[in-house]
Amino acid sequence: MNTRTGHRSERDTSADTLLSHVAEFEHDIEQILISGDDVQAKIRELGDRITEDYRGRDLLLIGVLKGAFVLMADLSRNIRLPLQFDFMAVSSYGAATKTSGVVRIMKDLDRDIDGKDVLLVEDIVDSGLTLAYLLRNLRARKPASLEVCALLQKPEVQQVPLDIKYRGFEIPPVFVVGYGLDFAEKYRNLPYVATLKPEAYAHMIG
Ligand code: IMP
Ligand code: MG
Repeated sequence: MNTRTGHRSERDTSADTLLSHVAEFEHDIEQILISGDDVQAKIRELGDRITEDYRGRDLLLIGVLKGAFVLMADLSRNIRLPLQFDFMAVSSYGAATKTSGVVRIMKDLDRDIDGKDVLLVEDIVDSGLTLAYLLRNLRARKPASLEVCALLQKPEVQQVPLDIKYRGFEIPPVFVVGYGLDFAEKYRNLPYVATLKPEAYAHMIG
């Protein structure tokens, strides 16, 4: 049997079916909200805008771990400029799906951002509390400029107004996984954004 042909036909069903990607996660997924192709198309668009906007400047991308690592990798390869990278890690929800509003810095930047053009890269803006805190924190370090790129935003549940210059998609106020976003550290490597069946996380919320 030609393994290559077998592999292809399995994947040809659809690039976005779970069976063709992570079969073990399939039974937990309720609905794919944004396909992998749509995510990639949006990132190319954002990358083009950022490339134009920052031409001739030295751009520093700051990724918010862990959720933004997938976006950071894809976005950076769609920005055709010399880039520098740094990362911060902040505490998030843990295993639950509701924000506590408490933000703790678990890992700070490696370098000063004084005088630099900074683009903060986030996976999702839910209540907006994490981002609001991070922006206040980073602004105090006197960057030359500070903007935000976030793949997803849930405007209906956002609690603080935020200026997100490069925003991928608005989504309804539902809990989503994939493309960097986790539930209990799972599902981050799915190439699309999807909702979980209630039974996939019900036992984790007490
Ligand atoms: P916020 O402070 O409520 O805006 O939430 C910020 C963080 O919560 C994000 O960076 C994510 O890590 C996490 N988060 C918010 N909504 C979701 C979701 O729908 N799925 C997975 N993680 C989420
Ligand atoms: Mg998280």
